[in-house]
Amino acid sequence: MGIVRIEEAHYGVEDLELCIRFFADFGLGAPDQKERTASYRTAAGQLLCLHDRREPELPPAPEPGSTIREVVWGVDRQSDLDVLVAGLGRDREITEDPAGTFHTHDDCGYGIGLRLVRDSAAQLWFREANSTGHERRWNEPLQRLGRARPYRMCHVAYHIPLAGREQSVTFYTERLGFHVTDQLVDMGTFMRAAGDADQHTLLLGHRADRRGINHIAFEVANFDEVVEGGNHMVACGWPESRRLGRHTIGSNVFRFFQAPCGGRVEYAADMDRVDETYGPHVYQQRPPHHMWMLTTNGQKEEL
Ligand SMILES: [Fe+2]
Repeated sequence: MGIVRIEEAHYGVEDLELCIRFFADFGLGAPDQKERTASYRTAAGQLLCLHDRREPELPPAPEPGSTIREVVWGVDRQSDLDVLVAGLGRDREITEDPAGTFHTHDDCGYGIGLRLVRDSAAQLWFREANSTGHERRWNEPLQRLGRARPYRMCHVAYHIPLAGREQSVTFYTERLGFHVTDQLVDMGTFMRAAGDADQHTLLLGHRADRRGINHIAFEVANFDEVVEGGNHMVACGWPESRRLGRHTIGSNVFRFFQAPCGGRVEYAADMDRVDETYGPHVYQQRPPHHMWMLTTNGQKEEL
């Protein structure tokens, strides 16, 4: 299949302790911490690494301040990894580290890596839902979750410059095997990794006409977890950057928070799953950002 998911995300950050507090509240728990690095392993086995941004080994920053420095893509088979690495090696320098990760850059200048996926036996927890005629949960009152327990990093969204945007997209489709699912001509291109069923694993958005991280999304189990996880973040004082809603493209339920590691992070649930028969859809005029978004009169959550 080739690339199946985000395997690692590396940020260079200005305030490591602040980021550690943020991701503890976000639901990732305590990191494996070294002097200038904090690492988290998602339940799905991916790595999120926060580095002091002055670390000289980090790939170049795409923007000032705290931001993404490298996304490592996970490949399911050694033979596919060999083909992808050999193809990239035709026109760019590639280095291999002792852990078996190959490092280079994409055509927009973002640091990228390739490696085999890590195994994880952990499953995303699941809770049945009831509706008349579709009763699935009997004699099992629901329990308050209180906070989120993100399962995996499910997609990354980059800003890219308007100039050269086709080349930026083509790198991922032609060189790394991504499939365009939905292209919004005046906004950006949604792409699915060859081995992923999510409607998008990667979004290259050109509306801001600059480089930088927009967000990484973390999948949680369901609607309740998006809401309760977000409420916990608000209660902890973290600034929400986009209220609860459901996207038009991808259909995922979302809630976004400004992240001290750079850009934003998203709680995401119930994204469309698609296969080779889906798209690519091309929209000359972009559809609305969301099909709905929560509106309130400023009430706080009542317990
Ligand atoms: Fe997203």
